[in-house]
Amino acid sequence: MPSKTTILGSGAMATACAILLADHEGQDVAIWARNEETASELRRTRRNERLLPGIVIPHHVQITHDIAAAVEDAEFLVAAIPSQYLRSTLESLSKYLTGNRPVISVVKGMENETFLRPSQIIEETLGSRAVVALSGPSHAEEIARRLPASVVAASGDVALARRVQEMISTDRFRVYTNQDLIGVELAGALKNVIGIAAGISDGLGYGDNAKSALMTRGIVEITRFGMALGAEPDTFAGLAGIGDLITTCVSPYGRNRMVGERLGKGESLAQILKTMDAVAEGVSTTRAVYQLAEKKGIDMPITEQVYRVLFEGLPPAEATDRLMNRPVRG
Ligand code: 13P
Repeated sequence: MPSKTTILGSGAMATACAILLADHEGQDVAIWARNEETASELRRTRRNERLLPGIVIPHHVQITHDIAAAVEDAEFLVAAIPSQYLRSTLESLSKYLTGNRPVISVVKGMENETFLRPSQIIEETLGSRAVVALSGPSHAEEIARRLPASVVAASGDVALARRVQEMISTDRFRVYTNQDLIGVELAGALKNVIGIAAGISDGLGYGDNAKSALMTRGIVEITRFGMALGAEPDTFAGLAGIGDLITTCVSPYGRNRMVGERLGKGESLAQILKTMDAVAEGVSTTRAVYQLAEKKGIDMPITEQVYRVLFEGLPPAEATDRLMNRPVRG
């Protein structure tokens, strides 16, 4: 069991990870918050009322804005920063993140322009590092309440994935290991795109059949994309694939589904983003995935329509028409 783990980030998932780790005896946990006021507010109240109402952060979790103090003696780091801020945040902290401490990534997205996965951004910014992606159906709101959940710890380094499995598993948090880091990270990024599509369907009042079709055809196009990038197809049938896709598409509090629902009801993207507390990763991921799919010639019909709704102002009902009436191939 490592002596100390430092979580980089203070959002809902960062807090949920701190709670999970702090449930292990002998495990020291620190949360590093980018914003000084956030750090002192969390330290004072032991609550993150805006993102995780009603949840108390255990008293022995250190909460600080001082990165040097946060990472002192830390054996593991957890990256819990939205993918579009991951590079700049790690770059700004890099002189403190020395040593070869492994990084557990709970980031689900793909970087715009570079098309890099979170583990690749971590490797680029911190130098070659062992990275374990922790992914699967894992809404922070439920983990923080210690409701049962199962996820995968993925790394090419099996021993390290096992180590993470051991240090983060609880009687309510079941962790499997997986060696397909590429597949697990792509699954986590792409399910958010389909989550937006599912939300659009909800906003338009389309019902259960439409949403089930989006989820089923969604995992088909996610798998196609993943295989083109070197992932194992089986990964997409597991917790990080279909498992997380279901959670994201059905959850009343799913951020990506919520963005879609509001789009379906007629709000503009700008208006939605202005009034959201948390980051919906799927918005920026849609752009990256659509552009990479175009470049590589991968057929991604649902992603394409989500892209057109988000960034080209295509009315959601018209996107539905385009999806339903394109030529049937099989
Ligand atoms: P959503 O908030 O879009 O559902 O994403 C959270 C998540 O990744 C749950 O596993």
